[in-house]
Amino acid sequence: MLKIQCRQFSSTARQLAKVSVLGAAGGIGQSLSLLLKLNPRVTNLALYDLRGGKGVAADLSHINTQATVEGYDTTPGDLERCLQGSDLVLIPAGVPRKPGMTRDDLFDSNASVVRDLADAVARSAPSAKLLIITNPVNSTVPIAAQVLKSHGVYNPRTLFGVTTLDAVRASRFASELKQTSPEHERITVVGGHSGLTIVPLFSQSNHPDLSSDAELIRRIQFAGDEVVQAKAGAGSATLAMALAGARMADAVLRAMGGEKGVVESTFVDSPLYKDQGIDFFASNVELGRDGVERILPVGTIDPAEQKLLHAALPDLRKNIERGLAFTQDKK
Ligand code: NAI
Repeated sequence: MLKIQCRQFSSTARQLAKVSVLGAAGGIGQSLSLLLKLNPRVTNLALYDLRGGKGVAADLSHINTQATVEGYDTTPGDLERCLQGSDLVLIPAGVPRKPGMTRDDLFDSNASVVRDLADAVARSAPSAKLLIITNPVNSTVPIAAQVLKSHGVYNPRTLFGVTTLDAVRASRFASELKQTSPEHERITVVGGHSGLTIVPLFSQSNHPDLSSDAELIRRIQFAGDEVVQAKAGAGSATLAMALAGARMADAVLRAMGGEKGVVESTFVDSPLYKDQGIDFFASNVELGRDGVERILPVGTIDPAEQKLLHAALPDLRKNIERGLAFTQDKK
């Protein structure tokens, strides 16, 4: 009996997880923090923002779920205290798009935000899994990688660009056309996270015919614009994005807790197209206790998708190079 209790205790103890959100008072940050507060795998939620982090934390701390919640702001030492002991760090800090902007247009505002926050992660939580939401993801992930490298703490298995929203959207839009249950659709999306670099692979889904539906493919690639236009200057996707970020965080936490076979598509340091000068690529990734366990190959795709992938690679290469050049310029 005692033995069983000990086992139960140790398996519970293993699942203690401190999760930090940097940019927690923003449109994404607030909803994401709410969803994380509802996740039973999260035991300690640390919320940092330049403004408003403490208010969001006070509010969420009254929800009767197990996670304790603490808020942090620009008080000296607060960012470090927020990060210390974190198992998982999510970064949704930065400026969102306004109508007419591409994600790449955010580079000048957001590159330095991600650089500075990655620097803080390297100093205070170097072994945490780091999930980057801030756009342009195709560039901000390489920036974070360079910063971690400069501190000698880069682990390609623990850095992720969050592209889950593309898969969420592809599932929803396909289900609208096929009258299926959206929660049960699993559409793999590869490439990157902007415009033409977003490549859905319907040939590998239950609806292979959709791979030649140009209107649907374009809708998935530019779905963010629908939201940016509808919000008319008040920002970009925040609610669906929060759901997507929470799904990705949950996948990482489940795998850290020992669950096997957890697969999400995500933008990581990847061998798949390195021979073409592309160091980061989004594809299905099997997650494990230490982060990336296995990067799954793109697999067999049909000619329409080959064309999409071919069109994606030059943009992706440019976006990655822009991120790398930014960190080199600043040396
Ligand atoms: P928002 O403007 O509502 O919130 C951003 C928050 O970041 C603000 O509270 C701000 O105070 C905070 N912030 C800015 N600089 C900071 C710093 N150095 N340290 C800590 N906090 C800082 O923006 P929203 O809508 O939440 O979007 C955030 C980012 O997420 C944008 O870059 C947006 O493009 C991106 N995004 C990414 C998606 C994805 O699929 N990966 C989807 C949608 C948006």
